[in-house]
Amino acid sequence: MLKIENLHVRYGNIEALHGISLYVKKGEIVTLLGANGAGKSTTLMSIMRLPPPEAPLITQGSITYNGVNLSDVPPHDVVAKHGIGLVPEGRRIFGNLTVFENLKLATYARKDMDQIHYDYERVFSLFPRLADRRNQRSDTLSGGEQQMLAMGRAFMCGADFILLDEPSMGLAPLLMQELFRVLKQLNETGTTIFVVEQNAHIALKYAHRAYLMESGRIVMEGSAKELSETPEIRKAYLG
Ligand SMILES: Nc1ncnc2c1ncn2[C@@H]1O[C@H](COP(=O)(O)OP(=O)(O)OP(=O)(O)O)[C@@H](O)[C@H]1O
Ligand SMILES: [Mg+2]
Repeated sequence: MLKIENLHVRYGNIEALHGISLYVKKGEIVTLLGANGAGKSTTLMSIMRLPPPEAPLITQGSITYNGVNLSDVPPHDVVAKHGIGLVPEGRRIFGNLTVFENLKLATYARKDMDQIHYDYERVFSLFPRLADRRNQRSDTLSGGEQQMLAMGRAFMCGADFILLDEPSMGLAPLLMQELFRVLKQLNETGTTIFVVEQNAHIALKYAHRAYLMESGRIVMEGSAKELSETPEIRKAYLG
């Protein structure tokens, strides 16, 4: 489904990714682990091809999705035509809009009206807290609820491949578990997941496969079970 090959990207004169390769197959949950500054968000932004000034510059290598080279795709079509949704770092929901308005905004480019209706139901059943708060202003939601809304919004774009940037950040352990359980449910009903995390504990518990990134390079890859058993990961991330 997604294939990244020998990707080099830079910000100005500084190269942030030094030739990374990875893949995500349809139906998988794959996690990309790494410490602060490893290049995790840069990898996601390269896939989504966010507009400048945020976007890193791809200088070498390729990102293909279902055989299509994403560098040939206009950025808005990455979401609208290819069904790739991003849950960004820091969530970036519209605080002055209600929960429902935020979800509705995500559907603006969709034409499958019948399916949209069904997808709202799906989001509200996955996240009953959002259903209870559907007419509440989003800036009054708790951090965990905002993360749920950000996930719901990516789903409402019509995405069947969802990228998440550190969804566990700032959340209490119980809430993290709840979010990852929902991710698992989404996955079991057909959504492919690529999740960037510093929290290896939780990510390896739910992912099928994992990559470890250090300073812009992939230094380890394997099944989640294999990675959670390696001494390096145990020492550095699992305590
Ligand atoms: N807009 C930018 N301009 C210049 N350098 C940047 C920019 N964004 C990121 N970088 C650099 O690229 C490298 C990778 O950053 P990135 O944000 O991808 O890391 P990360 O793994 O997501 O870290 P974190 O866990 O802290 O979010 C870092 O050295 C960072 O300083
Ligand atoms: Mg980041």
